[in-house]
Amino acid sequence: MKTIRSITLILAGLALAQAGLAQDCEVSIDSTDRMTFDKDEIVVSSECSEITLTLNHVGELPAQAMGHNWVLSATADAQAVVNDGIAAGMDNEYVKPDDERVLAATEIIGGGESTTITFGIDDLDPAGDYQFFCTFPGHYALMKGSFRIE
Ligand code: CO
Repeated sequence: MKTIRSITLILAGLALAQAGLAQDCEVSIDSTDRMTFDKDEIVVSSECSEITLTLNHVGELPAQAMGHNWVLSATADAQAVVNDGIAAGMDNEYVKPDDERVLAATEIIGGGESTTITFGIDDLDPAGDYQFFCTFPGHYALMKGSFRIE
């Protein structure tokens, strides 16, 4: 009886440890009709080989008026990625096709919508300077934050 209880406790402990690891690799971020993200920093664990990111648009405005995406690049590349994304237009989700500076990007969504992407971080430099942002025209000034690997 004592042995069974010990095993049960060990299994529960393992399940908790696993849940903890899984949680670190999943990120959720909200965007709004006020042209904001609810986070200005995202920190992920270097233990994660892949990150699953969900972008929610908790507003009501349609994508044509207040569209949001979530795009990741080196901070040094961000402004150029935004400029080229705006030039690429809505048909390309405001991301230049095959832009190698883009490390991850969701589609553009409107109010009430959500979208999820999974991307690898094994090739990213844990000491690197990365930024996430929205490339919808005019949004970069307000919709950006730092992305760190710890
Ligand atoms: Co936006």
